[in-house]
Amino acid sequence: MNDVVQVERVGQVALVRIDNPPVNAAGHALRVALSDTVRALDADPSVAVIALYGAGGSFIAGADIREFGKPVQEPWLPRVCNTLETSTTPVIAYVHGVALGGGLEVALGCHARIAAPGTMVGFPEVTLGILPGAGGTQRAPRLAGIPAALDLIVTGRRIPAEEALTLGLVDRIEAGEPRDMALGMAEEVLGGTLPTRRVRDIETTPDDAALEAKAAELRATQAHLFSPHKCVEAVAASLLPIDEGLARERALYDECIASPQRAGLIHAFFAERAVTKIPEASATPRAVTSAGVIGAGTMGSGIATAMLLAGLSVTLVERDAAGLERGMATIAANLDGAVKRGKLTADKRAAMLSSALTGSLDMGALGQADVIVEAAFEDMGVKEEIFGTLDRVAKPGAVLASNTSYLDVNRIAAATARPGDVIGLHFFSPAHVMRLLEVVVADATAPEVVATGFALAKRLRKIAVRSGVCDGFIGNRIMMHYRKAADYLMLDGASPAEIDAAIEGFGFAMGPFSVMDLAGLDIGWASRKRQAPTRPAAERYVHVADRLCEGGNFGRKTGAGFYIYDGRDKRPNPEVARLIEAERAEAGITPRSFTPEEIVARYMTAMIVEAARVVEEGIALRPIDVDAVKLFGYGFPRFRGGPLHHADTLGAAEIVARIEHYAAEDAHYWQVPEVLRRMAAEGGSFAVLNAR
Ligand code: 3HC
Repeated sequence: MNDVVQVERVGQVALVRIDNPPVNAAGHALRVALSDTVRALDADPSVAVIALYGAGGSFIAGADIREFGKPVQEPWLPRVCNTLETSTTPVIAYVHGVALGGGLEVALGCHARIAAPGTMVGFPEVTLGILPGAGGTQRAPRLAGIPAALDLIVTGRRIPAEEALTLGLVDRIEAGEPRDMALGMAEEVLGGTLPTRRVRDIETTPDDAALEAKAAELRATQAHLFSPHKCVEAVAASLLPIDEGLARERALYDECIASPQRAGLIHAFFAERAVTKIPEASATPRAVTSAGVIGAGTMGSGIATAMLLAGLSVTLVERDAAGLERGMATIAANLDGAVKRGKLTADKRAAMLSSALTGSLDMGALGQADVIVEAAFEDMGVKEEIFGTLDRVAKPGAVLASNTSYLDVNRIAAATARPGDVIGLHFFSPAHVMRLLEVVVADATAPEVVATGFALAKRLRKIAVRSGVCDGFIGNRIMMHYRKAADYLMLDGASPAEIDAAIEGFGFAMGPFSVMDLAGLDIGWASRKRQAPTRPAAERYVHVADRLCEGGNFGRKTGAGFYIYDGRDKRPNPEVARLIEAERAEAGITPRSFTPEEIVARYMTAMIVEAARVVEEGIALRPIDVDAVKLFGYGFPRFRGGPLHHADTLGAAEIVARIEHYAAEDAHYWQVPEVLRRMAAEGGSFAVLNAR
């Protein structure tokens, strides 16, 4: 017997323990073992009930995602589920922890299911660009009806077993040790108190209206995605006799597997996990129960909110009473939002504000904080002064973090006599909502301080990505570069609205000019002014955004920027067109037109170029870390997997050819990074660098 499945006989009962750490994914070995085991037990006349349960923390977390895109090794999961369902000996399952995707499908292939309280079940396949391919689209509608099945399968929503019970997906909820519960269930089957049935014997209740409504909704809201539409088609096939429905599900599943969106979404899934693999992973993080935040602006208040939501006590420090009061009010409002979204109870909110949060005008109040995050004005002098003070007031061993978005963390660390304790923790606004946290490791940062940054991120439920020190770190550095490409396109002939539309067509929720307006044009203006003294003379410079700022137009917050805002509506700002024309006239540029494809090609190539440099220089540990930054902090379309995954789909030779073509116009901006040149010549890819 393969040890991923172990059988224990108790009288007429065969207990089947599924044991494939860490999450009992249904990889090839498990599928072989489960199918062989159930077949053998079914053929054994001394076995009256076969009861499945999972070892460790879960029943089955789904198919093994690492196998997708590789040739299928039989028996594939739908066949395993059919083996369970068609067994003449009853097969039942006790599920605990998670039963997701193929894990839920295995359970639905059984003849009865009981779940532990709080077990999370669902069909996350759509988030991976596929559909439940082991009978889920056929069995869920038979049990729960078409509307509920559509909802679960199209959203990928994970639901607690209690909700699954009301939908009919599980038969009962009971708490206990999985092995004992599986045995108890089997005894109930023998005693006749737990009925068994085959889901294939149930007929789906027709509901054409629900199918048509969902299909129409998806055409309107998710036209750019592939698999949600296929999910609806598969659920519709549950009205056919089950074997025909299963065949249809399989055909649609294969289409999804072949789609590039599947590859992008699975890359994104692994990106979220790959970034935790850092050189400092073995260091022991320092204990953190209390935090200090310096600066009560939007950023500081957001960071303080995130810390409170994670259960830390927080001291917020600001220089003046009015600023502090505004910050405390922002935090209260942020927590109100969390209550409204059901993330926090009103009682907990009240407790956080009354006992976990303290405001102060004195940095001396930070003496007991385990971690202190400075989120003050983005100016090196200001930061150096704050860190000098922190050096005097913070307790020994406190982690001293800066939330700087661009500045040199080595210089900030040098303002203290304990540079080993200094790190960058770059949050994204709104800090209590955005998932990305760049953990910026300076030359002297101690390994356990890095590990503390990652442990803190986990507590804050954020995705931490390790970055080295450079202007703008991974995310903003790349952004500064591709924004220039957007500026050049604008001056050469495409309007901001055309550029935004093209980039939104590629899958971003917002194009670059809309994003700049939202973030505030003054932010980019400040960094351009800071960089002016070191800007190379050969660099092409577009003044439009500066001119807007000089006129007091900072984007959405002032009512005008690249667009004019009127409540929820926006329209192109005619002043921008005038500024562009004037600048073109001055530079002697005759505007030309760009197709959306050309716009996307230039913009994405620019993004890939700087992303490649960030990898080449070792600022990011791996290409997949860059992808994670762009996916989780900059709205990169998840189904495209990130800029360097996207680069692999284009191929290095194509990218190099594009750069060389664009370089004819601007040889300073368009330069081929060495890593891309080598890949183009030798046939490598960013995926190969990830695997190292
Ligand atoms: N296949 C392969 N590896 C998986 C996996 C899966 N289904 N689920 C998790 N893993 C791996 C992770 O990559 C990670 O590996 P690492 O340690 O090498 O990085 C390890 O298991 C632990 O995972 P997490 O760090 O995510 O652990 P958590 O405890 O935080 O979460 C979980 C556990 C809730 C199970 C979460 O991992 C999860 O949501 N997994 C994905 C579940 C899923 O999408 N299942 C559907 C698969 S598609 C399918 O079933 C197709 C079918 O219809 C045919």
